[in-house]
Amino acid sequence: MKIAVVGTGYVGLVTGVVFADLGNEVLCVDIDAAKVDAINKGQSPIYEPGLDELLQRNLEEGRLRATTDLAHAVRESEVIFICVGTPPTETGEPDLKYVDAVAAEIGCALNGYKIVVNKSTVPVGTGDRVRRIIEQHRAEPHEFDVVSNPEFLREGSAIHDTLNPDRIVIGADNPRAAMRIVELYAPLERPMLITNLATAEIIKYASNAFLALKISYINAIADLCERTGADVVQVAKAMGYDQRIGHAFLQAGLGFGGSCFPKDVQAFARTVQRYQLDPTLFQTILDINHARAPHFVAQIRNRLGDLQGKVVGLLGLAFKPNTDDIREARALEIIRLLLQAGATVKAYDPVAMPRVQPLFPEVRYCRNAYEVAENADALALITEWNEFRQLNFERIRQAMRQPNLFDGRNLYDPQRMRKLGFYYYGVGRAADPSEFKTVL
Ligand code: UDX
Repeated sequence: MKIAVVGTGYVGLVTGVVFADLGNEVLCVDIDAAKVDAINKGQSPIYEPGLDELLQRNLEEGRLRATTDLAHAVRESEVIFICVGTPPTETGEPDLKYVDAVAAEIGCALNGYKIVVNKSTVPVGTGDRVRRIIEQHRAEPHEFDVVSNPEFLREGSAIHDTLNPDRIVIGADNPRAAMRIVELYAPLERPMLITNLATAEIIKYASNAFLALKISYINAIADLCERTGADVVQVAKAMGYDQRIGHAFLQAGLGFGGSCFPKDVQAFARTVQRYQLDPTLFQTILDINHARAPHFVAQIRNRLGDLQGKVVGLLGLAFKPNTDDIREARALEIIRLLLQAGATVKAYDPVAMPRVQPLFPEVRYCRNAYEVAENADALALITEWNEFRQLNFERIRQAMRQPNLFDGRNLYDPQRMRKLGFYYYGVGRAADPSEFKTVL
């Protein structure tokens, strides 16, 4: 099939490359000429494991090309995926200006039947809006259909997730268009659900809000565990064995960041409000999440006292491992709070440091975890990169001014760390159960 993919961010580029790899002819479109040049040279503008290799292979074999010429891409293609950004506005609602602009250009360039597929995360009703805009802009009455095909890929495993999705959701009001998109995905041999447009649009937000809810839920439980001498890791494990609950997304810690969960839950709350429904549930998910970083920094302050002049080392800055993305990363809020309290902050992240440096030039960026530990009064694990799992903790302890370890992702075994001579804090993991008295 001939496909255009508009927008070469995480979703667009990965989608384009994977469809090319499945044998389709793909034109990736972006307004940013530098990005387009990089892609055509086989250099992915984003860091994503496996993406460069897949991009280069499909460029060499002539199935993929990038361009800034959207009208040309529309004319050449049967299916056009809209994958442009929908950044939040001040009210928390997604800004649809990029989607609108693409829809208008598609309308102007229409030269025959097209299927316009929306992959950007957009509120329910956007498919109808795209249809209206295309209708308003088309010069001749060429037919087209609008489909919603939400993306569920995670950063860091985007290629794998795109090739092995748990489900493929295809929302279309016209079965003919839906069946064409089914054909496109057929080689993946994954479960497909065909729904109407509104249903597909809601599935995306309902899924992300539910995952965020699981994280905030376990974090609320973690706070209770801390007060009562319980261990949230064991609570979550036992809960997860209930098949109706499951183990995934029950890791207590610093909460969720990234480009999706915070913005999507906020947007969903707004949508619910727009339809005169109560957004409290969704707002609470965010409120619990916002409280995580201050709570963590409070633990450091409780241990060290006044942070003025104290040195705090951070391991990891990215919003999660295997990405250089720092959007809504918990590290940013933690750095801000530590600096505000007068601490000196050192940090190391395998790939995200260049992104944090312009925001916080006063942080001392290090070459590895051991350099971060040097003369630190506290070491805080923020992002659970694999390379932090098996550190030489003997060496770390010796390098530190005071051996205080704050584990924001519950990566380490508390008993082992205490045996090694650390004061150890894990989120929702009581220091010493004998210290606690329950209140009943
Ligand atoms: C997410 C969704 O998983 C994906 O389906 C959607 O399309 C986009 O948003 P992503 O933002 O890449 O993907 O990250 P994900 O791996 O889901 O993690 C999100 C955040 O939640 C991270 O900050 C992570 O540290 C945090 N998290 C995750 C927890 O704190 N606890 C958990 O148990 C799981």
